[in-house]
Amino acid sequence: MSNSYDYQLLDFGDGRRLERFGRLVLDRPCPAAEGFKRADPDAWAQADARFEGRNEEKGEWTYRRELPERWTVAFGPLRFELKRTDFGHLGLFPEQAENWNWIAGVGRLAAAGTAACDGTGADVPSAAKRTMKVLNLFAYTGGSTLAAAAAGMEVTHVDAAKNVVAWARRNAELSGLADAPVHWIAEDAVKFVERELKRGNRYDAVILDPPSYGHGPRGEVWRLSEHLPRLLRMCGELTSGRPEFMLLTCHTPGYDADKLRRMMIEAVGGDGKIVGRKLTVRSADGRKLPAGVVVRLERTIG
Ligand SMILES: C[S@@+](CC[C@H](N)C(=O)[O-])C[C@H]1O[C@@H](n2cnc3c(N)ncnc32)[C@H](O)[C@@H]1O
Repeated sequence: MSNSYDYQLLDFGDGRRLERFGRLVLDRPCPAAEGFKRADPDAWAQADARFEGRNEEKGEWTYRRELPERWTVAFGPLRFELKRTDFGHLGLFPEQAENWNWIAGVGRLAAAGTAACDGTGADVPSAAKRTMKVLNLFAYTGGSTLAAAAAGMEVTHVDAAKNVVAWARRNAELSGLADAPVHWIAEDAVKFVERELKRGNRYDAVILDPPSYGHGPRGEVWRLSEHLPRLLRMCGELTSGRPEFMLLTCHTPGYDADKLRRMMIEAVGGDGKIVGRKLTVRSADGRKLPAGVVVRLERTIG
């Protein structure tokens, strides 16, 4: 399989973004592109389809030519089936690609029998080589799950929507990871973590990409502003207060990297390097489109 990226942010501005996913060029709304001027206004005429709709509400696609209902794109070693949903989503958030590379890097260090770098540039030998057990919550179409599985980790993939879990499994097949040790679970994230704590199951690492608002399969309400601090604390317990790594991404207005970093320190303590910063996607002309924030915790000593 090739290691190329079938993706380009061609332009953004005036509340929209123009992107190429494989052979399809799509023009979609993007609140983060408000207040920017388009760099290449002529480029937008090449869009094969355009989505109109407000964030998180059903909208409508209009087409300039007939398009396949589903198609596959490469993101490095991973493969994703894409489709145009009624909400304007496609099954992939391109800003996550750098997190997948980071997970792959953590996996390489673990496989080499080293803990994360100690900041001096040298790798610190860890006590034992073993398979890392990772929990991925709000796991969507599985990018982080696949990156962790490809890096040799055992992954428990949790998302509320059965059809989205099935979509992630198709991505695993497309990526040559159908037989990787992944437990696919359609469940409410908070309920699942509560049960794992009761059952005495523990993990080495946790990945979370929580939406601002969502539902579990039995109508359980997820509201980030209300539920995230407790969920993070429970994730701290699930990793016995010493996670090998933690990865939290967020697109909720009012939650910047500093605030989330403080929340993570409160939940799991300061035993590790915790870095928070903005995520961006770079356009063809080198400008950066803001795309949420990420907080990453890495253990520094094995
Ligand atoms: C990937 S996250 C959101 C991505 C991005 N951070 C954003 O805010 O747009 C969305 C996923 O969370 C899942 N989800 C929503 N509520 C959930 C819940 N209560 N438990 C588990 N998964 C949930 C959805 O099914 C969806 O696949």
